[in-house]
Amino acid sequence: MKQINVGLLGFGTVGSGVYRILNQHEEELKQRANATIKIKKILVNDIEKKRAVEVDQHVFTQSVDEVIADPDIDVVIEVMGGISEARDYILSALRHQKHVVTANKDLLALYSGELLTTAAENQCDLYYEASVAGGIPIIRSLVGGLASDRITKMMGIVNGTTNYILTRMTKEGADYQSVLEDAQALGFAESDPTGDVEGLDAARKMVILSTLGFSMKFELDHVTTEGISQITAQDIDYAKRLGYTIKLLGIAQHDACGVEISVQPSLLPNDHPLSSVNNEYNAVYIYGEAIGETMFYGPGAGQLPTATAVVSDLISVIQNKHMGVNGQGVVLPHNPTRLKSDKE
Ligand code: NAP
Ligand code: HSE
Repeated sequence: MKQINVGLLGFGTVGSGVYRILNQHEEELKQRANATIKIKKILVNDIEKKRAVEVDQHVFTQSVDEVIADPDIDVVIEVMGGISEARDYILSALRHQKHVVTANKDLLALYSGELLTTAAENQCDLYYEASVAGGIPIIRSLVGGLASDRITKMMGIVNGTTNYILTRMTKEGADYQSVLEDAQALGFAESDPTGDVEGLDAARKMVILSTLGFSMKFELDHVTTEGISQITAQDIDYAKRLGYTIKLLGIAQHDACGVEISVQPSLLPNDHPLSSVNNEYNAVYIYGEAIGETMFYGPGAGQLPTATAVVSDLISVIQNKHMGVNGQGVVLPHNPTRLKSDKE
């Protein structure tokens, strides 16, 4: 049986989840991938750090070249986060003919065109299911299951941290700051949670969803963005009394006038399906001309849900490899060179 060697960039919440799933589901993955999967190298910042998951110490490295320039490594999984280094490392990995799986929405919202073009030029796959809504297979659904439809609107709770905070403020009257600290301890929040609470993380995800859903290229400054840091206990109390729930909602709407994308705290009537999406759970509610309305729901952040999406992408890369179709756009979302500008 063929062995696929993987290099991990990052071994934090998501990276260690990837390692755990590869171990815990080893037999099933071997069958589905028709290959054994080996983590050959793991790039980290601090090689001496005590890890919650036990790993042979020799696997860790602080040298990115030991991962992306190793001719034996077939696939690089980028779960370190950040923009500048992650971009350089992914581009370099693709140029070294490594297939790449990433969970990095910060990077994709800014550079998806460059990254996807480089992947295609090098006949490599670039998959990023975990970048939006954690464990919900929303990217595959947009480019696969809904590929025949004309999507007119997407409404999403796409940030787990803020939904967790708002849920606990609403249900328990919990204090904003202490719940944010809980969300950080649970691994939902980013290392700097400002992007979560100020709506930027959700805006990045709405850029990715809109690009795929409407087949147009969008930039972050297309998105009107407001976070939840100004929401008070009093706001929540008023909303409750009027029969509403406050949610941080991403809305992307395509009509005759163009596309409008926003992320804002919104009042949802209590009988709307999105109002009962609680804690770190996410949901994306889609309106399509043919399908009508459909909702995708599940855990939007956290170790194992996110790692599930990453490892599933890895399996797709390996299956493509068996068929000799890497980089040919089999599941690779729309060829970026064919994306229309929203100004056209
Ligand atoms: P994390 O817990 O902060 O882990 C980051 C890991 O990357 C750590 O192991 C760190 O090394 C390593 N690292 C960071 N910068 C590095 C650098 N410059 N060189 C070498 N190693 C570096 O982050 P995470 O929560 O796993 O998130 C990883 C990515 O997944 C991010 O893009 C995030 O947005 C995305 N994501 C996260 C979630 C979630 O629920 N957490 C969900 C979906 C997507 P040390 O361990 O030595 O510090
Ligand atoms: N910080 C992100 C969130 C992680 O809370 O949704 C998942 O992308």
